Amino acid sequence: MKIFHVVGARPNFMKVAPVYRALERQGVSSQTVVHTGQHYDANMSEVFFRELGIPRPDINLRAGSGSHPQQTAAIMVGFEPVVLKRAPDLVLVYGDVNSTVAATLVCAKLGVPVGHVEAGLRSFDRSMPEEINRIVTDSLADALFTPSEDGNENLMREGIPKGKIFFVGNVMIDSLLHLLLLALERYPALAERFALREYGLVTLHRPSNVDNDETLFKILDALLEISVDLPLVFPVHPRTRQRLASAGAQLDGRVTLAEPLGYLDFLALEQYAKLVITDSGGIQEETTCLGVPCLTVRENTERPVTLSMGTNVLVGRDMDRLKQQVACILRGEAKKGKLPPLWDGKAAERISQTIVSGAWRTASSSSKMPCLST
Ligand code: UD1
Ligand code: UDP
Repeated sequence: MKIFHVVGARPNFMKVAPVYRALERQGVSSQTVVHTGQHYDANMSEVFFRELGIPRPDINLRAGSGSHPQQTAAIMVGFEPVVLKRAPDLVLVYGDVNSTVAATLVCAKLGVPVGHVEAGLRSFDRSMPEEINRIVTDSLADALFTPSEDGNENLMREGIPKGKIFFVGNVMIDSLLHLLLLALERYPALAERFALREYGLVTLHRPSNVDNDETLFKILDALLEISVDLPLVFPVHPRTRQRLASAGAQLDGRVTLAEPLGYLDFLALEQYAKLVITDSGGIQEETTCLGVPCLTVRENTERPVTLSMGTNVLVGRDMDRLKQQVACILRGEAKKGKLPPLWDGKAAERISQTIVSGAWRTASSSSKMPCLST
């Protein structure tokens, strides 16, 4: 069986690594990693291949940056001849980035089966580019691997046949559990600058937070205020770095700006932070797994299980609420959480078993019509 994995942006890499390994363990001999080139800086791409042990990509489409249609189209144009030439039996796509939807569209048009890892998540906010990517990818995929039960409910509500949906758990957590001990070995080298539980970790990259000057400045002002009580470390995403530069924003005081970090350093800082302030999808999940309080600067989340079971709190874009929540945590009143079902480090194993056993094929060929009664 010939399997392609299509990845391109930072959060894809943590997801593909355990799936690749699990398929290898199950004896799948032909696996090809296709990098779309959506992310290309060494600290947004190459470092993850090294640290997560992903084989170097066999193919790099070098699609690069651009508007959404430009980037999506560049990936499609680059990917089509590869699929035609190499004729994979199954193409696995990950998460909700433009690389995910672009590869799915190519496969759907060529009649090549697609498996979507991290299917079914919904923010119900179509102003988020990722929500469009999720809806389109899920409607076209042949096998849908969900990380949480809300994913199954969303897919069934949209008329996806039950037989195509496989609740497998969260592959992001597979990577975290696999590498956490190694990551924590990095901490002593960081400890001099970041004392245990005496700093907050910040990441921001959503266009809705950083692309508008007024919103960006409101958030930065709040971070500066928070840093009076709790120093902050802020590894800056390239989109945000550009926006900070073009808005002429300065962040000094006790906010330490850094380049994007590798996975191991980032995980170590995440584990030992007093709290995390973020708009990332994956980091909402990782903090729930690590038991670290997470304040999410978004109005909604496609990962509601991190709110209902985990340590995540949505603060929206209300900076007073953000500051209040930080104060609660500093007073020792952090939200406690527990692990959602199947966030146990074995999600990739379940995906691989489903693929190797052929269960996904039976399901996808026997249920072409939406089964609305389920
Ligand atoms: C993308 C994903 C987002 C994901 C994020 C993870 C889409 C629609 N968005 O957002 O869901 O949460 O990745 O990090 O797919 N840039 C660089 N170097 C790089 C990559 C990007 O400088 O290696 C700059 C470019 O100027 C680019 C901008 O960052 O225009 C944005 O990159 P892009 O991939 O379009 O979107 P992200 O904001 O990274
Ligand atoms: N991450 C990292 N270095 C950083 C910031 C994040 O390794 O400087 C990791 C983080 O641990 C998580 C993933 O990147 O595994 C999340 O990716 P990102 O926030 O870029 O995308 P999203 O999950 O929002 O789509």
